[in-house]
Amino acid sequence: MSGQTALPIVPQVSDDLLEQYALKMMRLQEHDTPLQRVLHEIEQIAEKESVPIIGALEGRIMAALIQQRQPAARAVLDIGTAIGYSAIWLSKVLGPQGKITSIEIDPLRAERARDFVRRAGVEEQVQIITGDFFEIAPTLNVQYDIIFQDVMKHVYFAQDAGLALKLLEISVACLAPDGILLTDNAFCMGKVMQPSQYTQVQGIQAYNEAIATHPALDSVLLPFRDGLWYSRRITEGLDSNQPRPAAGETIP
Ligand SMILES: C[S@@+](CC[C@H](N)C(=O)[O-])C[C@H]1O[C@@H](n2cnc3c(N)ncnc32)[C@H](O)[C@@H]1O
Repeated sequence: MSGQTALPIVPQVSDDLLEQYALKMMRLQEHDTPLQRVLHEIEQIAEKESVPIIGALEGRIMAALIQQRQPAARAVLDIGTAIGYSAIWLSKVLGPQGKITSIEIDPLRAERARDFVRRAGVEEQVQIITGDFFEIAPTLNVQYDIIFQDVMKHVYFAQDAGLALKLLEISVACLAPDGILLTDNAFCMGKVMQPSQYTQVQGIQAYNEAIATHPALDSVLLPFRDGLWYSRRITEGLDSNQPRPAAGETIP
């Protein structure tokens, strides 16, 4: 069914009391740096203006997951910049000479993101491209070590649930062997549990089933906040000890 309105914004902080405790513990580890101050500022602005961002706990969890990967990430793709919050988190775990390409369709948000990225001191690492991911993806010509896909629910506003599977296939095609794809909002605020008349929810359900059974991905759905898929690209016949493609050297 088409014609639905936008889904409500997922709160940065879940109402789960244990998640709130985990966030409190995480805050104890923070240091007062320019980058951290910018992250706090964005959290407050996002709260006030209802900009959908992942929030501090999810940022920290993503960073921890990515840090497990060796060698450190050199090429990172952030799909859906908003005002730069996830890109700044991702910049914390880049390897030497690592670069992030972040794509945002809304020019005003992209501009604000550039400003925050500059103030966080990571403008050398983060390039923000204004435009539609579906149009930009074929021009990227890079295999990414890490992809954070955070536009999943937005694309269905065009009333086409089939875009979900296209988004997944394009993302997998951009992923280096052994690369990691992170996908936010797998739960769609709990709506995925039941059959739905809404194309947004149907699209996310289709995406979830496709990612769970994808032959090129080894995936687990992490049940915190709005559900985060962690998927590693596996390629038959190619083990992780083989030399990797030179990801990161041809960032546009
Ligand atoms: C949930 S927000 C991203 C939040 C960001 N990852 C963070 O946590 O800081 C999704 C963003 O994707 C953008 N978006 C939606 N469709 C897009 C597309 N096709 N290409 C690029 N950006 C898109 C929206 O304008 C929105 O700002």
